[in-house]
Amino acid sequence: MKSISPFPSQAPFDHQAIRDQFPALKQTLGDHPLCYLDTAATSQKPQAVIDAMNEYYQLNNANVHRAAHQLSARATSQYEAVRQQVGHFINASKPQEIIFTHGTTESINMVAYGLTEQLKANDVILIDTAAHHANIVPWQELAKRTGAVIKPIPLTANAQLDIDAYDQLLACKPKLVALCHVSNALGTVNPINDLIAKAKNAGALTLIDGAQAVAHLDINVQHIDCDFYVFSGHKMYGPTGVGILYGRFEQLDALTPMLTGGEMIKTVSFDRTEYGELPNRLEAGTPAIAEVIGLGAAITFLQGLPRQDIAIHEQQLMGYLQQQLLSVGDITLYGIADSPQQNNIGSVAFNVADEHHQDVGILLDQQAVAVRCGHHCAMPLMSELNLAGCCRASIGIYTNKQDIDQFIHALNTVKELLL
Ligand code: ALA
Repeated sequence: MKSISPFPSQAPFDHQAIRDQFPALKQTLGDHPLCYLDTAATSQKPQAVIDAMNEYYQLNNANVHRAAHQLSARATSQYEAVRQQVGHFINASKPQEIIFTHGTTESINMVAYGLTEQLKANDVILIDTAAHHANIVPWQELAKRTGAVIKPIPLTANAQLDIDAYDQLLACKPKLVALCHVSNALGTVNPINDLIAKAKNAGALTLIDGAQAVAHLDINVQHIDCDFYVFSGHKMYGPTGVGILYGRFEQLDALTPMLTGGEMIKTVSFDRTEYGELPNRLEAGTPAIAEVIGLGAAITFLQGLPRQDIAIHEQQLMGYLQQQLLSVGDITLYGIADSPQQNNIGSVAFNVADEHHQDVGILLDQQAVAVRCGHHCAMPLMSELNLAGCCRASIGIYTNKQDIDQFIHALNTVKELLL
């Protein structure tokens, strides 16, 4: 592992002012301040997001696209403004390429279902071995419906995607390549631009699970040149219950809608129903209006921050976290390449000697340190690493050096209790 420069005592910007905007982080649990290191599961929410959702319910609550009255007009214009905002945020070429869903899982299911008519027996689907179950199971279901074949892309010894193996698998001309941008369990980052360029050369459709990337990296879908990019609001400081399915217009338009019903139609009769245009044809039923508005507030919040400074802060924090973890002793880290600061974003996966990850998690929680323990919805990855599970500490925009120091202090206590 490369040596990491010490974490600077002074951030180059007012980090505390950012942290202060997250009310949940001001609490203590027992005698300890809350040390929230589970942002990869869900981020805490800034006051601006909570206020935007409250305001919608207090003043503007109405259904969208459906009524002549002023409340509905206000709700619709807020809702559609967020579509534009998300489009700009990830550089989609038009707002119709942004579909509001209930989260990453639903977005992937919509693509997998929507491609049913386009795949046939023996078509190959390549899947990242490090994938979250949400980027595995919908493809397995698609394979059951069509007779397509799933091939996992192997990992190297340090759990990075094996590029040589990927190149070989592309030679079998897969119909679809589904990758994660950043692994939810390990924080490893795939070289997504290169991987997508290669998949396109091989003639494959491409989908990227960006759930763990979008809060940490600037996403430019036109630059990445993928067909689909999906993510959730709640991991990027927005609310739960809202997600995004970005798709290249012609690919989205070719999907069979997974959900049918109100608002996604042009005409309905008992003889024949004609579907509407994008984006409505993929948004059946009343959407998560307050959550979409909350997501808009989260994007406004992020765009108001010095993103470059924050990226550097997060990178330094990750290096400090890895280094401090190793200094505890009897700790194994997973998925760390030779230059950790470049290859891991947001999350560090670890175990303490042979101790059960759940025991470690419970003892950390008793000291107000929140981490996630288990298989991280990535059982094939755990099996590849020969693990029943592990602990994961994950950081966000608000995490500071004191959090890491509290965590390491608590982990030393765990070690004394268990070893
Ligand atoms: N997908 C979320 C995680 O990685 C829940 O924790």
